[in-house]
Amino acid sequence: MSDNLATLFSSEQLAERVTVLGAEISEAYANQKLVLVCVLKGSFVFTADLARVIDERVNLRIEFLGVQSYGEGTESTGVVQITQDLTKSIEDEHVLIVEDIVDTGLTISHLLELFKTRKPASVKVCSLLHKPARTRIDVPIDYLGFTIEDHFVVGYGLDWAQRYRNLPFIGVVDNE
Ligand code: IMP
Repeated sequence: MSDNLATLFSSEQLAERVTVLGAEISEAYANQKLVLVCVLKGSFVFTADLARVIDERVNLRIEFLGVQSYGEGTESTGVVQITQDLTKSIEDEHVLIVEDIVDTGLTISHLLELFKTRKPASVKVCSLLHKPARTRIDVPIDYLGFTIEDHFVVGYGLDWAQRYRNLPFIGVVDNE
């Protein structure tokens, strides 16, 4: 069975925006060490593209954090579970959390609280998408790709019940 998908952002639009974010991050962290934290699973594609447009002036290392906030549905359960932790300490390090989408804000808010207890030099947030209509808790987004309307989106790493992560574009599922 397949769903109707309407393209919201093409792969070209995504690449263009990610390149701009990479340039901003390269400037901000030039000649410094940075830990890029990829929040799994949704941001694996975004992180891979973003990492490759952050230039060599930044002394970059990549960590992966497994987080589960949804079940099989499309509503946040409000419970954020760490399914896979970082492999090394982030104490005294500059950290940039890379998210696919900030929806209610619950996941990022939880991660910011968690990371603060680990005493990093700084923690900032980079999110490809933001859905402000669904905000339940305000969180700072230091680097943002696009603000979107209240649609459930898939592709470029984002899923619907684990499906569609492989799409090279961001689409809206439209079963009307
Ligand atoms: P939040 O905790 O509500 O901000 O949700 C964050 C997580 O929910 C994201 O990292 C996604 O995994 C998932 N999510 C929220 N909205 C969407 C969507 O439109 N499509 C796919 N996943 C979403």
